[in-house]
Amino acid sequence: MSTSLRAVRGMNDLLPADGPLWSHFEATVRDWLDGYGYREMRTPIVEHTGLFKRAIGEVTDIVEKEMYTFVDELNGESLTLRPEGTASCVRAAIEHNLLFDGGKRLWYSGPMFRHERPQKGRYRQFHQVGVEALGFAGPDLDLEHLLMTARLWKRLGLGEHIRLEINSLGSAESRASHRQKLIAYFEAHQDQLDEDAKRRLHSNPLRILDTKNPAMQALVEAAPRLMDQLDDTALAHFAAVKQGLEDAGIPYRVNPRLVRGLDYYNLTVFEWVTDKLGSQGTVCAGGRYDGLVAQLGGKPAPACGFAMGVERLLVMLSEAGLVPAPDGPDAYVVNVGEAASRFALKAAETLRDGGLKVVLHGGGGSFKSQMKKADASLARFALIIGDDEAAAGQVSLKPLRAEGEQRKLDLPGALAVLKTAN
Ligand code: HAM
Repeated sequence: MSTSLRAVRGMNDLLPADGPLWSHFEATVRDWLDGYGYREMRTPIVEHTGLFKRAIGEVTDIVEKEMYTFVDELNGESLTLRPEGTASCVRAAIEHNLLFDGGKRLWYSGPMFRHERPQKGRYRQFHQVGVEALGFAGPDLDLEHLLMTARLWKRLGLGEHIRLEINSLGSAESRASHRQKLIAYFEAHQDQLDEDAKRRLHSNPLRILDTKNPAMQALVEAAPRLMDQLDDTALAHFAAVKQGLEDAGIPYRVNPRLVRGLDYYNLTVFEWVTDKLGSQGTVCAGGRYDGLVAQLGGKPAPACGFAMGVERLLVMLSEAGLVPAPDGPDAYVVNVGEAASRFALKAAETLRDGGLKVVLHGGGGSFKSQMKKADASLARFALIIGDDEAAAGQVSLKPLRAEGEQRKLDLPGALAVLKTAN
């Protein structure tokens, strides 16, 4: 096949066989969010590039090398396929003045785009479900997010396999003071820094702590800890979050190296991680970002949120065998002959009027071949129509998944049987 006829690398097709798993996940998520009073919003997939630069930060992996950015040739604007949803959600909340009467609990889902090296659990187009609580200051909302995610893992049957790591990034002032200490420390050990770290030394020294380079681990371990710079407010906030987790019986680990790859966070940050996905083990991540609304031009408002990687969770569900059985229609309408085909159309519509799921055979073929299709469709019944049945205004109803006789019935009779039989 010519390369131009293949999907873009790292961007996946969702095929019919994947449907039941996606539907099951999406229905569970909707119901779960409903249970916490979150309301859905949808924003465009494309935004002005400046939004992501300002929100996520110029010196982050995402902005430096992972964004799909292009110039709109019609007006010269620089546009970007969204790499995440928080920036768009906050932009929309400011633009539409959503916070005019107080805090809002919001969620969104959809594709995000990052030009990363594709591997299991890491794609260039992937899906997130994101949750943002805008306009709430207290640690109670951080806790709500941690408790609700724990509940979702349990509902999905994944509770055993996902664990929580948390950290506090403190206030802007603590971060500034920690930043100065970090720069001084790394400057004193210039000879041990790799290229990435040297580049980040003055622009984003906190991200050096996130390095995967084994040669730098000892240096990073001994670096000044942000935890030691936290002021009383940040410590009290963090203590309340930890206490709430303990009260709720949710195990967690404080990971002082957890700094996140986006610049907008302060205070609580967290990641839900698993050992089941190799190196792409973070299935959900987020935290507090009290400065972002003001930074993007809104009236200052505290906020926190998180997003989960849908594909990663689906891989876990499918590897754990937690895939729901595909659901067949109530009836598959087999029809052979011209009069039969006209009557079959009417019969199928009548049954659908009655609330049933009906697949009408298309494309002709013998009774035998159509019955094979009926069976493969997982339908509960075959509704068989030949020209004789059509002339009499009747159908033959044959159970496909249970014992039972084939019966000739008129349409109201068939509808009644289909609605009562399992
Ligand atoms: P993030 O950590 O960049 O945070 O992404 C959240 C989750 O999206 C990750 O934990 C992972 O499960 C999934 N993910 C990220 N990149 C990929 C990829 N290339 N392929 C597959 N899955 C991926 C955010 O995006 C923040 N907006 C989260 C947030 C919301 N913070 C506050 N509110």
